[in-house]
Parts: sequence; C-alpha cells; structure tokens
Amino acid sequence: MDSETLRRRARAGLATGPERAGARSHFRAMGIDPARLDGRIVGVCSTWTGTMPCNLNQLELSRHVCDGVTEAGGVPLPFNTIAVSDNQSQGTPGMRASLISREVIADSIELMTHAHDFDALVCIVGCDKTVPAALMALARLDKPALVLYSGPMRAGPGNATIQDVWEAVGAEERGLMPRAELDELERTACPGAGTCAGQFTANTMAVALDCLGIAVPGDGLVAAVDLVAKAEAARRAGALAAGALPPSRTFLDRRGLLNAMAGIAASGGSTNGVLHLLAIAREAGVALTLDELAGVAARTPVLANLVPSGRHVAGEFHEAGGTRSLIRELARGSLLDGAAPTVTGRSLAQETADAPPPDGEILFPFERPYKETAALVVLRGNLAPGGSLVKAAGAGLRRHRGPARVFDSEEACAEAVRAGLAQPGEVLVVRYEGPAGGPGMREMLSVTSSVVGAGLGESVALVTDGRFSGATRGLMIGHVAPEAARGGPLAAVRDGDTIAIDLDTCTLELELPAEELRARLAEWRAPELPYGSGVFGRYRALVGSASEGAVLASTLGTERV
Ligand code: FES
Repeated sequence: MDSETLRRRARAGLATGPERAGARSHFRAMGIDPARLDGRIVGVCSTWTGTMPCNLNQLELSRHVCDGVTEAGGVPLPFNTIAVSDNQSQGTPGMRASLISREVIADSIELMTHAHDFDALVCIVGCDKTVPAALMALARLDKPALVLYSGPMRAGPGNATIQDVWEAVGAEERGLMPRAELDELERTACPGAGTCAGQFTANTMAVALDCLGIAVPGDGLVAAVDLVAKAEAARRAGALAAGALPPSRTFLDRRGLLNAMAGIAASGGSTNGVLHLLAIAREAGVALTLDELAGVAARTPVLANLVPSGRHVAGEFHEAGGTRSLIRELARGSLLDGAAPTVTGRSLAQETADAPPPDGEILFPFERPYKETAALVVLRGNLAPGGSLVKAAGAGLRRHRGPARVFDSEEACAEAVRAGLAQPGEVLVVRYEGPAGGPGMREMLSVTSSVVGAGLGESVALVTDGRFSGATRGLMIGHVAPEAARGGPLAAVRDGDTIAIDLDTCTLELELPAEELRARLAEWRAPELPYGSGVFGRYRALVGSASEGAVLASTLGTERV
C-alpha cells in the first residue's frame, strides 16, 4: 500500500471516526463539511503583509488559489507568514531582520504543514526572502507543492525603478541633482502593488522558480496589477495542487538547481540568487558548491537586457516572452536541461516550445547574447579564501587596485561616503556585516547607491562580508568568506593597505606578505558586536558561512549526493 493511500485512510478517521470528533468540530466552525476531509487538503500559504507593496496582492491571490483548490475537489486551508521589506529596511538596523526572516518564514511553513498535515501546498511569494524561504521549507517537507509569485510592479516614467530613487539620493547629496527631481522620482518610481520592477532579487528568484519547474512557467512574471491574468494563474495553481503533483524534491534536485542558476545568470540576476540556491540545496540534501554555481554562471552569457545591468524592466520582459522565452533559448543552447519536469506534468522544453523567439532588444539569442561575460563571478584569494561574489554584469570596472578605507559597520561607511570622504581609486571595506557579524548579512544598497550617485561607480570599489541588493551596481564585492566576525582575513585589513581585484583572474588579494597577515590575525580579538540576544543572538550562534548559503547549523552537514 503506498504512502498516499495510507494517508487517505488516516484522513478517513478525521472525516468519520468518533475519536476525531473534536477536530471535526473546528472544521464545522469554519463552514467545512467533514465529509469533504477525505479529499486532498491543500495548505495555501501566503506571505502577505500590509507593510510593503511587494506582497500586497497576496490575500486576493490566496482567495483565487483557494477557489481553484475547491473547484478541483480539494479542501484549501489558507495561512500566512511574516515577510520583511528589503527596500524599507535598506540602510537601517532593520535590514538585519531580512535574511533572518528567510529562516523564520521557512520554519513557519514547515511547522504549519507538520501541524495540519496538509496533503499538498501552494506557497504565494513575492518580496526577496519569501521566495527562497518557501523553497527551503518545501525542500525540507518534500510534499506535493508549487509556488506562485505575486508578480512585479509596473515601472515609473522612463522605466524608473526603486534603484533610480536610491541613486538619486546619492546624486542629491553631492549636489548633482536638484531636490525637486528627487522628490518627483520618489512620487512616481513605484506606481503600485508588486515586487520591484528591475531584475533585482525578487524577480531573480521568480526566474529561478520557473527554471526549477516548481512554478507554472510564465505565470510568475504576470504583473501584480494584471488582475485577470493573475487570478487565472492563481486558480490554475490551486487546481494543480488539488491534483496529483509529485513531491517537491522532484524539482529541487541538482538538475533543477543548476537550471535555476543558468536562468539567474542569463537574466543578469542578483548575487543573492547564489546565496539562496546554496541554502535550498542544503535543505534538499543536495551537495552543491559555490564553485559549481560559479561554473554555470561562467558558461552562461547574459541574454536579457534588464535593469540594473541593462535597460528594460520585468513588465517589458514578460511582454517579450519572459521566462518562457528565456528557458526556451537556454535549452536551445544546451545551457539548461529542458528535459527537467515542471508542475504541469510537462517538461521545461515542452512547456516553452511555443514561446516567442528572442526579439534582439529585450531578449537575445544565445549565439548573439546581450553580454558575453558571466553575470556573476566568484573571487578568491588571501582576502576571501572561502570565496566572495560580484555581479560582474553590473560592474563597469573589471580590474581595480587601490588603498583600503576600512569601516566596521555599514553606517560608518555610509556616513563617510555622504560626507564626501571616499576618494577615486579607493577600496571601501565594510566588515562585521556578515551572517554572524551583523548579524543578518545586511544589504548595502544605500551605500552602494551613494557611491554610484556620487559619480564614483567607475573609480571606487567596495568589499564586504555583507550582501548587496539586486539593485546594486558598480564594482561591489560581497559575501566575503570567512567573515570578519569569525576571524576571516577581512578583520586584518588596515587603512591604506592595498587591495587588488581582478574579475578576469577571479582574484581578491590583500597585498601583504603572508607572515604579516598571519601575525595580524593572531593578534585579532573578536569585538563586542550588537544584537547578542533574542532571535538575533540565536541566529548569530547558529548561522554558517555565506559560501554555504548562510543556513543554520541544524541544516549543515545533511547533504546527500
Ligand atoms: Fe520587496 Fe523589492 S523590496 S521586492
């Protein structure tokens, strides 16, 4: 007897047996006829919060998913998780909560599914951390499941996005933009509900969802405000979950994760995508390394001309064929395994066979890509023996050598940049912002935008054990491992030391004799860092290296090949 049949038999006790009468009372209290409990019970998880536009349409989508489940004979049970706005917390202490929320969301989904014994799940996701969090939970649970992305925001006038607002802040600070222009951008760049309109982290992960096959290809990037098409996508997701989906690790395997990396690289996606794929791999028990992902990025040209490394936004990309055309093109170039399955029951290649061909402006054919060079590059050297990550697609410079200006927090660096202290040629070092150091590995969009907005994007580099927003551009190297708070070499850097960065040789070097570096590190003592208690203290104690996805200790060491 298969496990599904056994579950149905156990569920029959819920529907009819006297011993489960107490549980049935509460189903009756919600208007659910217990006779229906023999059907498939589908957990419908939304990551709605009313604190940000990114997930604002999800209650509505959840209702449509529930309708789809019911119409297909299942019983939907909706629930919610927390979600943190990366944009609103950017440049503040609140950003420390962002990556940590990934774990809390994953834990919430895992716990709700365990407690309520759902047969299947639909996870509705949007803002940056909610996507990997849902995938991490599904990797743990290995249940029939699919993911629905809430959809991107429309862009403002002239394709303005939130990135333009942040960079305008830097320009206004330097007197390069009148205040009135900044105010106008603030009012118009984000016209309504949806995730940030560029190929920043959320949309990067939306591309990953489609390449993993755990979402219906093409449904995710339907705009959040495109109510009819989005409702149809939601009902489709509900109906699929009430049917016969395979367990989620069918999609979250090595092939799926490598396909997702190809999609991220080809779309000029965010460095956060790499961090999240590593974390999902750990949760799924797949032994996947940073270097393997870097290898995929190295052989995958950038095919999509998308903000921030290009000109177009998610809405235009979707109109031009979007992820379906991107997947078709990647499969045609043998850059992605088109035989991989999707939640529709068809392969990626079958699902995308009729997608529009590249238009040569928003999407390019693999023979004539938008950019030949890899979008994401892993740098190693004596400053990052465990690796570091740079979004090469968004970097004007490929080589830089200059004196370090060292800061022990994001705030200290931001203050210096705003005061005009950063000089052309310098390498800004921001340390103690790693997963354990921050804690929470903050994104540094406000600092990097200030650098770019001040006209220093082509002459100043930044190196940190923290992260970057998908909207960051310039020569910004993050995820440096091991991090400074755990005694990594970044802790030994002093003002005026020379740092050499080379994207072609994939190196990040502190020009210091090995014995001098060793001596400095031997002298180093861990500083007192803030946020030592509560969820932050617990996270600091348990979190692992960024080069392994910054997952918690309970997940590390569980890989199966
Ligand atoms: Fe939520 Fe950009 S801040 S998607």
